[in-house]
Amino acid sequence: MFNKKTIRDVDFKGKRVLVRVDFNVPIKDGVVTDDTRIKAALPTLQYLLDHGASLVLCSHLGRPKEGPDPQFSMRPVADHLAKIIGKPVAFAEDCIGPVAEKAAKALKPGDILVLENTRFHKGETKNDPEMAKQLAALADIYVNDAFGSAHRAHASTEGVARYLPAVAGFLMEKEIQYLGQAIADPKKPFVAILGGAKISDKIGVIRNLLTKADQVLIGGGMANTFFKAQGYPVGDSLVEDEALETAKQLLSEGGTKLRLPVDVVIANKFEDNAEKKVISMGPVPDGWRIMDVGPETVATFTKVIIPAGTVVWNGPMGVFEFPNFAEGTFGIAKAVAECKGVTIVGGGDSVSAVKKSGVADKITHISTGGGASLEMLEGLVLPGVAVLQDK
Ligand code: 3PG
Repeated sequence: MFNKKTIRDVDFKGKRVLVRVDFNVPIKDGVVTDDTRIKAALPTLQYLLDHGASLVLCSHLGRPKEGPDPQFSMRPVADHLAKIIGKPVAFAEDCIGPVAEKAAKALKPGDILVLENTRFHKGETKNDPEMAKQLAALADIYVNDAFGSAHRAHASTEGVARYLPAVAGFLMEKEIQYLGQAIADPKKPFVAILGGAKISDKIGVIRNLLTKADQVLIGGGMANTFFKAQGYPVGDSLVEDEALETAKQLLSEGGTKLRLPVDVVIANKFEDNAEKKVISMGPVPDGWRIMDVGPETVATFTKVIIPAGTVVWNGPMGVFEFPNFAEGTFGIAKAVAECKGVTIVGGGDSVSAVKKSGVADKITHISTGGGASLEMLEGLVLPGVAVLQDK
């Protein structure tokens, strides 16, 4: 199924390896606050070290606007990696040029170097071939394990692979296998659950899933736009008026496959301690807004989710960061956890909901990619994968 060469296909003894990881992790006061993505790359890093390589790791962090910016430095990530991998990790204050070259050349087998944020250079997001060549000059082989960034055709994710032998790491392989299988050959019934604020971010995904899945369950803010498209007044709910026509088209394309909430929790303010009530889906009174799916919806969706052969979930069902409006999202997390089929959760918010509700270990695969996992569900080819060597 995964037709790209992986690190199993290469001899790394005595080689310097440039590994593109997705260490775009949250940092507060110079400390990494969620190291899921760093831990997810460890099997690849450990394999390369065990096979005699020295490692030059590169990643972007955040979206710095103009050149180097200390709040987006990779240094805290290098320090954190040293702690969890249990050995020293060197740091280079630039990802290309003399500083990076000197640091890379100094490496001996078993050594690890982390480069500064690739987005401190404009050439990164422009996929500048010059920058790609300079990155390639740091190593003998390129390994891409940055699934979360594989939908970006940037110098460190795509361009560089044109100048070195380029293969996939274990995380990349695992992510593509799970998400690729769900789209190409899912165990049936195949149920997709989509939430989050906007339809416009997920039009392609909804369209593609309507052709593949048996049921597409919709919740979250995007359901409001569907409700309005059906002609219901939605009060003060968040609605994307510019997506109303698209919503109408999707409703008619989806037919009975596309399932909307049957009841919702409404509130009189956008606050956790707002007054709230549950209403069957129908007109939302003025001054009220939809904040979550209701208990009937959780029960109905649960009946569809539990017997599924494959479940894919992206996007929360409501404003779950407010504990009073989290029941819908947590209820769906529980249902997905109870499903005995293959369950895949992607996207920062739904992953955090699964973790908060304590069921993460009952999910078959938790993706490290947000945008990348959505593009896979949309059926798109990820540029960071396409460029790797075929088997
Ligand atoms: C992510 O967090 O989804 C990836 O690291 C990609 O980041 P980006 O959306 O800033 O390219």
